[in-house]
Amino acid sequence: MLEVQLRGPRVPTVGKALPLLDLAPAADDLRRDALAGLASSPRTLPCKYFYDDHGSWLFDQICTLPEYYPTRTELAISRQYAVEMAAACGPQALLLELGSGSSTKTRVLLDHLRAPAGYMPVDIAREFLRSAADVLAAAYPGLPVLPVCADFTQRFTAPLLPARRTVVYFPGSTIGNFPADEATDLLRNIADLMGKTGGLLIGVDLRKDPAVLERAYNDTRGVTAAFNLNLLTRLNRELAADFDLTQFTHRAVWDPTPGRIEMRLISTRAQTIHIADHTLEFTAGEHIRTEYSHKYTLEQFAGMATAAGLTVRQVWTDRASLFSVQYLTRA
Ligand code: TRP
Repeated sequence: MLEVQLRGPRVPTVGKALPLLDLAPAADDLRRDALAGLASSPRTLPCKYFYDDHGSWLFDQICTLPEYYPTRTELAISRQYAVEMAAACGPQALLLELGSGSSTKTRVLLDHLRAPAGYMPVDIAREFLRSAADVLAAAYPGLPVLPVCADFTQRFTAPLLPARRTVVYFPGSTIGNFPADEATDLLRNIADLMGKTGGLLIGVDLRKDPAVLERAYNDTRGVTAAFNLNLLTRLNRELAADFDLTQFTHRAVWDPTPGRIEMRLISTRAQTIHIADHTLEFTAGEHIRTEYSHKYTLEQFAGMATAAGLTVRQVWTDRASLFSVQYLTRA
């Protein structure tokens, strides 16, 4: 486990993010994880590798698609209830965001928080994070912004900053991208990051008509397809693989029993792929599973929180109950 501590006087910040703290995973993690996933049946690739700098940019495009309801719904909920959310977070809180991307939703919160002690965006895409942190620091002069490049699915210890309490911010229903057991573990890690007196403000996508869900993850412009296929581009570049992007297609399917969307890359014909000194034989129609996106009922999510030692204190939703933002503390 990594233990990092910032000592000494606080660095004055006038619209500039503090130097990025680099706890990024080792380069050979990708090789190990990709080879293990591609050798399993069905083949899989871990979704965290979507987020290289280009993938992070593509994801921002997904967030503006007409079919992709989560981002705009979560933003609308946050705008409508920002005062209540800020009150739940309390004054002088350190806001620690997991998977911060371009930190767009965070602004709504920062606009309402009372005397926030600092903002610590955590993301796996280093340069994307660096520039998002600078943009945010420029918009909030005087707010200490400390970007941390880390894989939050691995346990990591946040650097200590003087704050009354830590509020972990985890929007976007990223929690849904993990199978239930991993999601529960992640919530336990978050409870540790929060400390005894902290809180968690989390976005959780809700169960709804499967047709709406399948449209959200199979957009007509093909941005989600480009995002999914970018994973293969990354393997071609970083692991000298030879995936032919014209021979794989994107498809997202709803699986009702676990209640999740499953993102796939489907091989359109029988083909041989070389990757990091390994050879893979794909049959026609065989797929690689790249991501889950679980949709929960409020009861299901509350049960998972309880299993992780947390309690749901407040829930905000939109009129149609498409999406929820929830505030949790330790039980
Ligand atoms: N947290 C997002 C979600 O589950 C991630 C996401 C949205 C995503 N669209 C995607 C991941 C398309 C992969 C492909 O909704």
